Amino acid sequence: MTEASEGTPPAEKPAVPNEQDKAAAPGAKPKATAKPEKAPVKPKATAKPKGKARDPSAGRRGFVQLSLVAAGLAWTGAMVKFFFPRILFEPATRFPIGFPTDYVIGVDTKWQQAKRIWVVREPSRLYVIFARCTHLGCTPDWKSGENKFKCPCHGSGFDMQGVNFEGPAPQPLLRTQVSLDARGQVVVDKGKLFPVDDWDDSDAFLVV
Ligand code: FES
Repeated sequence: MTEASEGTPPAEKPAVPNEQDKAAAPGAKPKATAKPEKAPVKPKATAKPKGKARDPSAGRRGFVQLSLVAAGLAWTGAMVKFFFPRILFEPATRFPIGFPTDYVIGVDTKWQQAKRIWVVREPSRLYVIFARCTHLGCTPDWKSGENKFKCPCHGSGFDMQGVNFEGPAPQPLLRTQVSLDARGQVVVDKGKLFPVDDWDDSDAFLVV
C-alpha cells in the first residue's frame, strides 16, 4: 500500500464557472458592452498658403546676377575679338608656275584645280587664262578632243584663246598678268586681269 492511499484523500477543487455559465447564472449582472473608443479629433490643418512666400529681395538679386552674367559674356566676346580678329585668309594672287620651257604648244590644265588657271602656249607667246566662265562664274573644262573650253553649268563654249562662241557667256575669258622673275620663272598674278581688249598689253603675255 502506497502513502497516498494511506492519508486523507485530497479535497476536490471547486469548478470555476466559465463565462457562459456566468452569463446564464440567474441574477448575474449583464457585462457592460465596451464602448468603442472615439478617435481623437485631429486639429484641422491650417491651410497652407499657395506658393512660396516671395522674398522681396529675390527679384533684385536675380537681376544683379543676370547683369553680371551678361557683363561676363560681353567681356569674353571682347577678349575673343581682341585675340582672334576677323582676318580673311585669301590665297596669294601671285605665284610662280615654272619656266616657259615647261610648257609645250597647246593648253596645259595642271594648275586648274590648285590655282584655277590654264597656261596656253602658242608658237611665239605664252599667256595664262583665268578659268572662270564669264556667264555666272563656273569653271569650264578643257575638251582637248574638241579643242575648246566647255562650261558645265549652262553650256558656254570658248576656243583655245578663250573667245566665247556658244552659250550664254557674254564675253571672252579673262587673262592674268604674267611676268618672269629673276630666275626666269613665269610668275602669274591673278590680282590683275585683262579683258579681250587688253590681251595685247605687254603684261598679259610673255614672248617665248
Ligand atoms: S556659268 Fe558658264 S555658262 Fe553659265
